[in-house]
Amino acid sequence: MNLPREVKIFDTTLRDGEQTPGISLTQEEKLLLARQLDKLGVDIIEAGFPISSRGEKEAVRAIARDGLTSTVCGLSRVIREDIDACLDCDVDMVHTFVSTSDIQIKYTIKKSKEEILSMATEAVSYIKEHGVSCLFSAMDATRSDLDYLVKIFKAVEDAGADIINIPDTVGVMIPQGMRLLTQEIYRAVSIPIDVHCHNDFGLAVANSLAAVEAGAREVQCTINGLGERAGNANLEEIVMSLHSLYNVKTNIKTQYLFETSKLVERLTGIKIPPNYPIVGENAFSHESGIHTHGVLSKSDTFEPGVMTPEMVGHRRRIVSGKHAGTHGIEAMLQDMGFKVTKEQLLDITMRVKDLGDKGKRVTDADLQAIAEAVVGEVAKEEKLVSLEELSVMTGNRITPTASVRLRFKDKYLTGADTGVGPVDAALNAVRSVLRGIEDIKLTEYRLEAITGGSDALAEVIVKLEDSQGNIATARAAREDIVMASVEAMLSGINRIFLMRKE
Ligand code: KIV
Ligand code: ZN
Repeated sequence: MNLPREVKIFDTTLRDGEQTPGISLTQEEKLLLARQLDKLGVDIIEAGFPISSRGEKEAVRAIARDGLTSTVCGLSRVIREDIDACLDCDVDMVHTFVSTSDIQIKYTIKKSKEEILSMATEAVSYIKEHGVSCLFSAMDATRSDLDYLVKIFKAVEDAGADIINIPDTVGVMIPQGMRLLTQEIYRAVSIPIDVHCHNDFGLAVANSLAAVEAGAREVQCTINGLGERAGNANLEEIVMSLHSLYNVKTNIKTQYLFETSKLVERLTGIKIPPNYPIVGENAFSHESGIHTHGVLSKSDTFEPGVMTPEMVGHRRRIVSGKHAGTHGIEAMLQDMGFKVTKEQLLDITMRVKDLGDKGKRVTDADLQAIAEAVVGEVAKEEKLVSLEELSVMTGNRITPTASVRLRFKDKYLTGADTGVGPVDAALNAVRSVLRGIEDIKLTEYRLEAITGGSDALAEVIVKLEDSQGNIATARAAREDIVMASVEAMLSGINRIFLMRKE
């Protein structure tokens, strides 16, 4: 490999990225993003295509005049009017391009190859006469005739171009092809080579890296891989691969990658999938018991090691779900401030797995509610009352009725009652079964749906009082409101009995 010590990052989020179908940023948004890209440390910001609209020109001008450390670049065709629009914006660099493939020449430009060559060299000379830096792109280079491509690159080099770009405009290269093509160009010219790969086959990052292996010294890319059609090479992936896998430096301050990705998500409205590398929500999340156990002992066991969440400003998450193990859940509970016994931990893990088996995503709030309910419960051996059976009937033509069978010490007690609804009927049934032992009053009842949806986990909090004035608060969390209510009530009753015993 012909690897350099350092590669420059040319960010085109504000130009090719903004060409993503459906995205249109205001001037303020573009400026905000340009400042973030500057903070991130990109070498060149392609701020836009000034000739395309008045608003675009003003946005490019505002970015160019903002005093950023990054070089600010504007895009132009090989036409004076376009170049003048860039120069009017006070950019540091003009990126001028023209099609070089037979198909684009025939159907879009409709000029001879000689005419295109002289347009390109004239444009480069004109840009250089104005004292700004010049990048020349041969659009559709990867489908162009190689001899013609070399000829035009040599001609623009002679005309004063500072750097040339090989665009894989329609994303049809494979890494081996990109390596060979870059090598050919590298042998033919002495100015630096830049690459611009599209992601039509999901190979944009691999192709860009292959070009670097063969001599490219600058890579064009976008945050979150935005860009025309399937997008451009993703900046986060390029940078982290260069740093962590190739040991090649860039000027990117990688700790800002996650926040930059989030800002782009927010401004463009294009959400990245959770399994997206590096900046996706799950990039450093672990759910399965085996993985969480390993990661909690040493994170490198199930993470790359050469790339940590801290390096990219992300965070490691242990997620609860049906694959969760006790180690992961215990770590999450510790983070939330819970101290649990072995028995409580097993109970919580079982409940989390049950929810997961029903296809539910168990959120941190769900886990917290489950843990609060379990931790608040009286220990099994100290429980005097427990639920054996419960059935409830409700409907529009009957009075809601519940029948309940409880175990009190070593006896079984059965009873039934009615109520205004199924919850009221169930709680009344519990109280009437126990009335012979103690008259427990329900002084407060609160129901909260923790996450959205009719199958949300419901948390019930009750306050009870006995005839001697003992008061207990208890909670339970279940998907079934009636069950959560009865469980909370029994948990409170057991606490009151415990208080009385003590
Ligand atoms: O994809 C492409 O070829 C481009 C050029 C303007 C470089 O975006
Ligand atoms: Zn492009």
